[in-house]
Amino acid sequence: MQTLVNTQSPLNSGSLAGKKILLGISGGIAAYKCAELTRRLIERGAEVQVVMTKAAKEFITPLTMQAVSGRPVSDSLLDPAAEASMGHIELAKWADLVLLAPATADLIARVAAGMGNDLLSTLVLATDAPVAVSPAMNQQMYANIATQENIATLRRRKMMIWGPAAGEQACGDVGMGRMLEPMQLVNLCEEFLGEKDQPLAGKSVVITAGPTREAIDPVRYISNHSSGKMGFAIAEAAQKLGADVTLIAGPVNLATPEGVQRINVTSAESMHEAAMTHASNNQVFIACAAVADYRPEAIADQKIKKTDDNDAMTIRMVKNPDIVASVAGLTKNRPFTVGFAAETQDVEHYARGKLTRKNLDMICANDVSVAGQGFNSDDNSLKVFWPEGEQSLPLTSKQELAIQLMKLIDSQL
Ligand code: C5P
Repeated sequence: MQTLVNTQSPLNSGSLAGKKILLGISGGIAAYKCAELTRRLIERGAEVQVVMTKAAKEFITPLTMQAVSGRPVSDSLLDPAAEASMGHIELAKWADLVLLAPATADLIARVAAGMGNDLLSTLVLATDAPVAVSPAMNQQMYANIATQENIATLRRRKMMIWGPAAGEQACGDVGMGRMLEPMQLVNLCEEFLGEKDQPLAGKSVVITAGPTREAIDPVRYISNHSSGKMGFAIAEAAQKLGADVTLIAGPVNLATPEGVQRINVTSAESMHEAAMTHASNNQVFIACAAVADYRPEAIADQKIKKTDDNDAMTIRMVKNPDIVASVAGLTKNRPFTVGFAAETQDVEHYARGKLTRKNLDMICANDVSVAGQGFNSDDNSLKVFWPEGEQSLPLTSKQELAIQLMKLIDSQL
């Protein structure tokens, strides 16, 4: 196995250009997908060095992996010739990422135990590169407490666990344990290693999101159906594009996007207070929250009782502060201020009216009369207006839309 069949020289362009990936293959049926995985990684410019366990070679031949990677496969810890060309410590230092795919229950157990009883486990011990583990095994083996504990151990040691997926298995079972598809693994490698497009690096953004809750008494409140998904997607997008993000969130059932500082609030007044505390320390303020326009004038101390002699009750409501208008009215350290407008007709007319009236720099109009977008949906489209221009962002996922919106905001700063 010493002939080098270098059919693929690494591309110097592509999302993984120059990245060195050590692909560790262990003995599971999903190993056959590693040829495809390697080709796709190389297509994107990565250099791939394949390391196989003894069992892996029962599922895919080293010759196949050598042909697709353009490098001889490393498979032995005790081979003097291999050690003379690139020794195992050198190999461990060479990698920008160690990807164990498929990672069998046995390999995961050996890594968790810190064993070095073959080349692959020794490399994992010897590398200081990040390690990604892509489990692949029978669903019962995956569910086994020993495997689960081993995976938890790897996670605790900051190894990335990519997958597994659920579905039909080679053995006929159905359940969790399928290796992620090659393209999913390629995407994860790109996300982790690829050049990051971070035009907002060094900038900071405050976003309000979700509904507000206006208390009536200790157990009741007035609110609305805002899910907070758009605001959270904007926070995630801004963070991915490099911004420092503060998310002022009303009561919603959503996980905080990674790397985002979240401030939980309940009422419009508490959201206003948080917004005024943070807005002037940041370059951009985006008001995505569905703030209640009015709140009960007084909150009853005790639960309001139903009475037999009254079929109606009246709650006197008073206006809440307009948060985005307050921020836009700042005279010192005023951030670039962006509002949202939910309209059902004559979208441009009403949105531009709001832009002027609230003194905003930009307004994003949702046409909430269109089914399948806006409130509570996973998709949305926006018409964005600013004093000198406008742009339509067509229907797509809120995540993708948020990226486009943040790039548009950046172009106007
Ligand atoms: O006036 P309208 O409620 O349609 O304006 C919507 C925009 O104003 C959104 O950006 C919303 O977050 C913001 N807003 C606010 N405070 C309020 C009401 C609305 O920040 N009290």
